[in-house]
Amino acid sequence: MKLKLNEISKSFGPVKANSDINLTVNRGEILGLLGENGAGKTTLMNILTGLYKPDSGSILIDNQLKVFHNPREANKNGVGMVHQHFMLVPVFSVTENIILGTEPTTTFNKIDLTNAKEKVLKISSEYNLDVDPNQLIEKLPVGIQQRVEIIKILFRDAEILIFDEPTAVLTPQEVVEFFEIIKNLKKAGKAIIFITHKLHEVLEVCDRINVLRSGKIVGEELPKKTTNKKLAELMVGRKVNLKTNRQIVEKGEVLLEVNNLSILSENKEPLLSNLDVKLHKNEILGIAGVQGNGQTEFIEALTGLRKISSGKISYFGKECKNFSPRKIHQLGVRHIPEDRQKQGLIGDFSLTENIILNTYYEKKFSNNIALNWSNAKKEAKRIIEKFDVRTNSEEISADKLSGGNQQKLLIGREMSRSINLLIASQPTRGVDVGSIEYIHNQIVMARNKGIGVLLNSTELDEIIALSDRIIVFYEGRVIAEFPSNADPNIIGLAMAGVN
Ligand SMILES: Nc1ncnc2c1ncn2[C@@H]1O[C@H](COP(=O)(O)OP(=O)(O)OP(=O)(O)O)[C@@H](O)[C@H]1O
Ligand SMILES: [Mg+2]
Repeated sequence: MKLKLNEISKSFGPVKANSDINLTVNRGEILGLLGENGAGKTTLMNILTGLYKPDSGSILIDNQLKVFHNPREANKNGVGMVHQHFMLVPVFSVTENIILGTEPTTTFNKIDLTNAKEKVLKISSEYNLDVDPNQLIEKLPVGIQQRVEIIKILFRDAEILIFDEPTAVLTPQEVVEFFEIIKNLKKAGKAIIFITHKLHEVLEVCDRINVLRSGKIVGEELPKKTTNKKLAELMVGRKVNLKTNRQIVEKGEVLLEVNNLSILSENKEPLLSNLDVKLHKNEILGIAGVQGNGQTEFIEALTGLRKISSGKISYFGKECKNFSPRKIHQLGVRHIPEDRQKQGLIGDFSLTENIILNTYYEKKFSNNIALNWSNAKKEAKRIIEKFDVRTNSEEISADKLSGGNQQKLLIGREMSRSINLLIASQPTRGVDVGSIEYIHNQIVMARNKGIGVLLNSTELDEIIALSDRIIVFYEGRVIAEFPSNADPNIIGLAMAGVN
């Protein structure tokens, strides 16, 4: 099967998300699609899968003109997409999720289910996916949920498979497994489009790379003949410094102290056990670890989102006993949450409303009777400009921003408030290389000015680039501590529980 996108254009009001895009993918090929945040990657894929109608241009499959009015029509023509935010129903089983939408009725009958299960098993074994058709989705780790999404499109006989930032939510081990899966799909003759912001990933698995900038294709590269640096420059349109400059600074007094902290789950299983952590002024403390080793619970406890079972948390020398998130916020503790869509931003609020979320009661924005919209807008404009959030208006709703631009808005908001301590979780998830450079510099500058930064990231490279000190979480404990110049391989071993 051969896919050809011909002169595709799409605008949203004044924003030209795609202009005259030409792109081809062949059977048995993996095409990498790179581009900075807001370049138009997701929009193009949404056109290909029938979610959006292009303003002009055409889709050809095996030289036949195709028009898709919805994803179901695209599916019928062999086009399937795995979205970054999965569309699975947590309380349904794997098989139920897979057949959802294939039948006109919403109730499943036994025959359908039995047949479907067999087909799921067959697909699972054919591509080495190792998925149990009876499991409930909510019981499965993210990596397996993604495989369910893959089976879901293969179940509908997809020949052209689109992956929109599939690796952003995976652990390093899951990424390795995912690459095996797409290589198998390629061997089976599928045509694959793979979107990512991680340059080494496209270099590793793609046959060809197309780069988008401001809605246009600006280059095509072959992994064997290109470099990280060249790709970064092509994406961003300027030289990018892939290394962060970080001078040594003397650390100051303790800002955050955690003593003997333990948290038990509802069924009394230990989630965190006896943690002792200190964070100083002028210090970036990195938390390294494979996702799911207690980091999320730790940060929830620090930000007032989760009750602790025993031990104590003190900010600025004072113990906080079951403080609310607002109380902690008022201490000048800022939080960049790992899941921007669930915790950070409100999708159908405007950018301005999102900017004053949590601070609307401050004098600058309110006189206790009415909100001062003009100040709120000014602040929104300032942050949008400073953090290079790509949008033409602060009035649009946050869900209209591209994924990476949502993240930049959120970081801009948290870092622009009066701040003593920053807790940043996965701060650059889904963010392009140019913006990573900027965000990293902002974090280092904040630390130079006397702020303490707790950096939680599953990207070991990011931890190493930024941290003055590194602690490693494993099974709810801090199992090792390293200075900033430690050997990454040794940190990696600690992350796997070898100590
Ligand atoms: N439904 C929409 N309404 C208005 N504007 C939109 C809509 N969807 C996308 N846009 C705009 O189109 C442009 C391209 O967005 P798109 O999501 O395709 O970028 P992207 O390349 O996927 O970026 P990222 O890497 O951040 O995910 C952006 O300026 C975005 O704000
Ligand atoms: Mg996108």
